[in-house]
Parts: sequence; structure tokens; C-alpha cells
Amino acid sequence: MPHYHNPLDASQLPAWQQLQQQRLNMQDFRMTEAFAADAQRFQRFSLNHDGMLLDFSKNLLDDTTLDLLMQLAEQSQLQPAIQALFNGEPVNASEQRPALHTALRRPIGDSLVVDGEDLIPLIHDVLNNMTELVNRIHNGLWRGYSEKPITDIVNIGIGGSFLGPQLVSEALLPFAQQGVHCHFLANIDGSEFHELSNSLNAETTLFIVSSKSFSTLETLKNAQAARSWYLAQGGSEASIHRHFIAVSSNIEAAVEFGIAAENILPIWDWVGGRYSLWSAIGLPIALYIGMSNFKELLAGAWSMDQHFQNAPFAENMPVILAMLGIWYSDFWQAQSHAILPYDHYLRNFTQHLQQLDMESNGKHVRQDGSALSYPSGSVIWGGVGCNGQHAYHQLLHQGTLLVPADFIVPVVSHNQIADHHQWLYANCLSQSQALMQGKSLEQAAQELRDKGLPEDEVARLAPHKAIPGNRPSNTLVLERICPRRLGALIALYEHKVFVQSVVWGTNAFDQWGVELGKVLGEDVYQRLTGQASLNGADASTQGLINFFRNRHRG
Ligand code: F6P
Repeated sequence: MPHYHNPLDASQLPAWQQLQQQRLNMQDFRMTEAFAADAQRFQRFSLNHDGMLLDFSKNLLDDTTLDLLMQLAEQSQLQPAIQALFNGEPVNASEQRPALHTALRRPIGDSLVVDGEDLIPLIHDVLNNMTELVNRIHNGLWRGYSEKPITDIVNIGIGGSFLGPQLVSEALLPFAQQGVHCHFLANIDGSEFHELSNSLNAETTLFIVSSKSFSTLETLKNAQAARSWYLAQGGSEASIHRHFIAVSSNIEAAVEFGIAAENILPIWDWVGGRYSLWSAIGLPIALYIGMSNFKELLAGAWSMDQHFQNAPFAENMPVILAMLGIWYSDFWQAQSHAILPYDHYLRNFTQHLQQLDMESNGKHVRQDGSALSYPSGSVIWGGVGCNGQHAYHQLLHQGTLLVPADFIVPVVSHNQIADHHQWLYANCLSQSQALMQGKSLEQAAQELRDKGLPEDEVARLAPHKAIPGNRPSNTLVLERICPRRLGALIALYEHKVFVQSVVWGTNAFDQWGVELGKVLGEDVYQRLTGQASLNGADASTQGLINFFRNRHRG
């Protein structure tokens, strides 16, 4: 039986127990001292892959710890688990299916036979269909009901059918093709629909209903609203196929909704929603940046896939990031992890990672259903720098919580304005430096004395100005934000998440917790609209329903 059906209890592995001792040994470890003692620390604790540099030297890390973390990865059977992932074994045990987002990145001519079928030709057939569709729209051959070419694409989808495509489209704005605008409609909040539809012309708008399941409430309600809006604007039923296409694995439901069968691009149940931007769910990306750039995105991810499969663990970027994350959450009680991209175009990266990481690793049992006795996924949060420096970085510097951070920054800017990029890059580096160095009480006191303050004022102010330091971070430097590097960056975090799930023994590819909210949402809606009695709901929910109903009465 494959190991993931019967995962190991990580806390019983020898390396885990040695790491517990190592944590105690590291109590007085100071990164600044480690740098002073080792001129090669940066070289030894940094990695390069395909135009990407990972500096992990500013961590609570020494050789023994790194070695133990790599042993933990080995003892967790990571290598066979990676092979199982890439080979299409059912790594998603609760749903008994593989998670084959990596297959979507494989080059043509490759082969991956799962259950007797070679998936690569299927995948490339869909890529060809996407190419044809993109070309027709870009060349003005796809016409709306009044024979005008399409100018605006609206992607209707939520979760993985929104966050990945939105992140990539916005991140690759400098690669956008002329003439096609992409919009995203995700939330059921009518205000989002209202604001967007006000800016659109129905004659030249194409809606992509993007839903793997074609059963997601928010998406279906928005798709219905879009259809009503399109008809109210003068569009005809007969021309609906010119304005609505779908991406789904539930072809039947999409057809029933009214999408023409030839307008439905398939995805497969072996692609998880939060891993689906590489599939036809990425159609808005392809429409925005063109198909050759979309293929570059896939190529970048595939290059990271190969690195992940082949590099020894100690030189493997996803493995290093994952094991450092485990070091902090399971041995240092860190409960959150900050993602801090210093690039305007990556401003939605944290949001995408929130779904990728928290929906994947927010689990409390192992694949076999046994309870975890140690923490699993962290809270992922953060946002674009420098903005965060003037908001939440204060807590990173002087708060009582340990928050490891990933800084992400390109060397080359798409928009060199005076010396802004030098300043941006300098700020990124100086933040990780400040987190590491901090400022001792003595230093703070001396600075105050140097300013001529009396001793009682020095004693009063110095504790406020002292900064603990020794706070860990990784820095990822990309050559520049381009399709290939972005593909590699996203794939890097996908694999980081997978490695952690293997060590914890959890399933990174299901999300049963989300389902309860969906079921209760339906129940509350029935009560709110008077279709079901309030009896049986808790008093808080009843009170809140009544408040709403009183306002809407009469
Ligand atoms: O919110 C749960 C979820 O199932 C996500 O995993 C998924 O990305 C999202 O809903 C959207 O699902 P679908 O593409 O099926 O509409």
C-alpha cells in the first residue's frame, strides 16, 4: 500500500526528536554572530535556479539544524512521495485521486500514462483549443451579437478559478496584448457586479464562466446575473454563444446552464482548484498575455518541477522553504508566515498563496484520519512592500510573536523611474537586515546619550527603542517578473506546500472544511428568506436573521 495511505507520525521520527533537542540548543543562537563567525554563510545558505536566487542565510539555522531538517524530510519518505505526485498516484486519498497539476506543464512529446491513458496529448489538445480561441479573439474574428469584435473578457469564478488567473494576469501586465481587457468577477456581493457591469459594453464583452465543479454558488449567481444583464442590454438568446463560454469538468451542468457545448473547455478532476491556473482555467491569462507567453509560464513552472524532482534535498528550493517553515511552526511555535513581495505587479501574490497554502495545509488529521499531535499549516498573510513597512512591519520588528517572512523582489524593474527601483530593492534588503540585527538596549541607550539626553530620560526611552532582532526571513530575488520566472515562483510555493503536507502526513489536495460553510450558508439563506423556520438555529444566528428581516420588512 502506498505510504500516503498510512502516513508516518512525524513526531515519532528520530529526526523530529533530535530537532526538539536542537531547538533547545539553539535558544541562544544569534544570526548576527553566525554571520560574524562564518564568512561563507551567505554562499552556503543560498541557492540559484533558473534566474532565481533564494537567500535563506537569515534564519535560525546552523549546519546541524539543516542536516536534521533534511533527515526529517528523508525519514518522512519525501522522495517516494514526490514520485507519487508526479506519476499520478492517488496522493489525494480522501477523494482517491491524483493531483496532476505538474502534468499540465509537461512539454509536448512527453508521456504520462495514468489508468491506461496518456494524459499529455489530452492536455495539449486543450492547449491547442485555447490557442485557436485566443487567436480568434485577438484577430477580431470572434464577434459579438452586433458583429463587433470582443474587447472585454470577464472571468466569472472564485477561489482557484479566480485567484491564480487574477494574480498572473495582473503580474504580467507588461506582457499584455493590445486591445483585450480582462476583468474578474468573483464575489456574490452585488456591488462588485454593479461596478463592473457599469464599465462594460454587452456588444463587445465575452464572459468566461470558470468553475471546475460548475456548482459554486457565487459563480452560478454571477453567471445568471451576467446573462440577465446581457439580455437587458440588447443581447439575444440566439447569440448567447457569442458571449458566454465556460471552463469546467462538469460539461453537463455547463450545457444545462445554457453554454454551447463547443464553447466549453474541459478540465479534469485530477486538477485541484488552487492548482488549476495552468489548465484552461488560465484562459483569461492566455487572452491577456497571449498564448506564447502562457506557454512560457508553463515552461517556467516545469523547470521548477524538474528542479524539485531532481535536486538533492539540501539544494532543493521547495524542500528548503518547506522544512524551514516546519522548523518554525513545529519547533518555535510560529503561527503565521508573512509573504512580502516588493513589486507592484506581485501585489496579489499573497492572496493566491493564502488559498494555495491555507486550503492545502489547514488540516488536523493525517491521510489515514488519525489526529495530528503537532501544528500543521500557518496563517499566511502579508502584502506589498514598501507599503507594509508603514503598516504591519512594526509587529514584525517589535511584537511578541515570531513571524518568519519571505521577501520577494525582482532585480530589474519594468518601469525604471529615476532611482525608485534602487530604493525599493534597498528597502526590501534593509527590512530583512533590520529584522535580523535589531537594536540592543545598550545601543538604544547609547544613541539617546549621544543626543545629549539625561540619564533618567535614557532609562525611560531606551526599552521602547530597543528591537529584539534575530527574526528570520528568506529573500527570493527574481531576475525580473516575466512569464517564465513567475511560473517558476508559483510552482516553487506549490511544491513547498506539498513537502510540508508529506512531512505532516496530511492531504494537501482536499478541502472538506470549506463544505460545512456552504451547507450552512444554504440553511441560513432558507431561514432568512422565510422558506424555513427559525426554530433550531442558535440564538445568535436567529437574532442576526431577525435584525436583517426587520430592516427589510414592508
Ligand atoms: O472554496 C472551495 C473551492 O472548492 C476551492 O477549492 C475552489 O478553488 C473554489 O471553491 C471554486 O471551485 P469551482 O472552480 O468548482 O467553482
